[in-house]
Amino acid sequence: MRLDVVTIFPEYFGPLDLSLIGKARGSGLLDVTIHDLRTWTHDVHRTVDDSPYGGGPGMVMRPEPWGEALDALAPRAEGRARLVVPTPAGAPFTQKVAHELAAEPHLIFACGRYEGIDQRVLDHAATRMPVSEVSLGDYVLFGGEVAVLVMCEAIVRLLPGVLGNAESLAEESHANGLLEAPVYTKPPQWRGHEVPEILRSGDHGRIARWRRDQSLLRTAQRRPDLLADLDPDTLDKRDVAA
Ligand code: ADE
Repeated sequence: MRLDVVTIFPEYFGPLDLSLIGKARGSGLLDVTIHDLRTWTHDVHRTVDDSPYGGGPGMVMRPEPWGEALDALAPRAEGRARLVVPTPAGAPFTQKVAHELAAEPHLIFACGRYEGIDQRVLDHAATRMPVSEVSLGDYVLFGGEVAVLVMCEAIVRLLPGVLGNAESLAEESHANGLLEAPVYTKPPQWRGHEVPEILRSGDHGRIARWRRDQSLLRTAQRRPDLLADLDPDTLDKRDVAA
């Protein structure tokens, strides 16, 4: 998979050299390039923003540098790139979206700052490639950089060969629309707290049932919205009893 990131703060992306993302880059599974948007400015101040039409606070990112940046990156995409723009005004970024993006051969992330990027950049890009405006959640960050780091991590760990144990993908939170059950390791007692007896029983059938019940319980308590969205066909009789 190829990832291009365009930003005015390339330093934000140091963490992409680390851990499993760094390893995926080293092994050739992932090709990441960070681009400084100011490369595509032509004035002495390397200006990327201006005041908003219609008035209001803050500044808006000018279309020209973005247009040139996407002109430079899109031909390399040979029509196979998707532009991803993090914005609090976007559609929710979920595990399902992470899976969809992980199936793309090439993603171009555009990190907005200030009040956002001139809308014409996205409208023009949409005439050439698919464009996704996505939000991490109902809160506002300073800009898209941290959101892109989060999305990269969520996407890259889904690429075949990146996680050592692919089974952990099947068990984790959101894999089946539920939150994951609590997890424990040794020692069996710690500061007066015990590992649930059933997890030490060796009875794999009972353990699987216990985990499923804990998942349902946690999801009902913490994320009733997820429970309401579950496909009833994925529930069995014992789930309903739980
Ligand atoms: N940029 C600023 N806030 C954001 C958010 N909540 N999600 C994605 N990108 C953002």
